[in-house]
Amino acid sequence: MTFNPNRYNVMPYRRCGRSGIHLPAISLGLWQNFGDIDQKSVFRDTLRTAFDHGITHFDLANNYGPPPGSAEENFGAILRSDFMGYRDELLLATKAGYTMWSGPYGDWGSRKYLMASLHQSLQRLKLDYIDIFYHHRPDPNTPLEETMSALSDIVRQGKALYIGLSNYPADLAKKAAAILQELKCPCLIHQPKYSMLVRTAEEELLHVLDEEGIGVIAFSPLAQGLLTNKYLQGIPTDSRASREHFLKSTAITPELIIKLSALNDLAGERGQSLAQMAIAWLLKDRRLTSVLVGARNAGQLLDSLKALDNLAFSQGELDRIESILATT
Ligand SMILES: NC(=O)c1ccc[n+]([C@@H]2O[C@H](COP(=O)([O-])OP(=O)(O)OC[C@H]3O[C@@H](n4cnc5c(N)ncnc54)[C@H](OP(=O)(O)O)[C@@H]3O)[C@@H](O)[C@H]2O)c1
Repeated sequence: MTFNPNRYNVMPYRRCGRSGIHLPAISLGLWQNFGDIDQKSVFRDTLRTAFDHGITHFDLANNYGPPPGSAEENFGAILRSDFMGYRDELLLATKAGYTMWSGPYGDWGSRKYLMASLHQSLQRLKLDYIDIFYHHRPDPNTPLEETMSALSDIVRQGKALYIGLSNYPADLAKKAAAILQELKCPCLIHQPKYSMLVRTAEEELLHVLDEEGIGVIAFSPLAQGLLTNKYLQGIPTDSRASREHFLKSTAITPELIIKLSALNDLAGERGQSLAQMAIAWLLKDRRLTSVLVGARNAGQLLDSLKALDNLAFSQGELDRIESILATT
């Protein structure tokens, strides 16, 4: 299988915190659209299109599917059929932290769960090691030291090259980073939910991560598809909101549509789709290493990639975005 020889010239790569790793400005996540319920020929095309356009970073988790585990299995199969010989050009991530199997050892953040889950993920992916292993969410009932030392030991065992944290609030991210520093296993990256519509990360987290030299990859940058033009005229039958799977149709209120329409007009004036502007708006912040998009097919991914054609915003445009988002 061959890929576009120009792929590394069309994608900007950004340094991940103070590490030696660079990530593509746009990375691809496999939370939805890569499970056994999805069409293999479609997601295979999406993955090939991604790599052809310089996307080297693919983000998975133990529970991605549905059913849980199937995204890893499907990705592992395509790795072997289509990406043979390219493993060292790829930066692959998986996670554990949400419910994966029944009983007391299949969830949260114990050493037992993290070690067993990564073992299972590697088997599904048919890999010897993963590049980034994340703790997917903080666990209020396991000492932070236990979780962090398990992550650090996983790196020492050679089963992961780097450690990441996801959904950790600023104060806990700082504590976790300090423990990992002591263990000589610095946290590479943090994965928060961040978009024009979800801006909690701006309050403290981005500042803490910048100080700690930890990279940032923003998940759900399109707010699961809300920050596109697809819901402006109702709910299309093939959309995530129509499936009521994580994105509920009740989230699409008349007030939100007014905001999205105004943002869509502004995107049009910039020569972009709303999805492209939403991605560019995140990448304007130098602290963002990468924007982690989802895509139901290669066409959506190609559309999102065009965000890279215009990443600059005038102060007037930024002010207009703020005033649109502030309207109630
Ligand atoms: N760490 C965590 O806790 C966590 C949680 C969630 C996600 N993530 C990661 O973040 C990744 C992305 O999350 P996400 O899927 O919510 O991201 P997203 O980019 O906000 O939403 C993706 C969805 O938006 C729609 N879309 C994408 N590109 C489009 C385009 N150009 N034009 C129109 N519609 C477009 C599609 O929805 P339709 O199917 O409706 O067309 C697509 O499935 C996940 O795959 C996962 O890797 C991590």
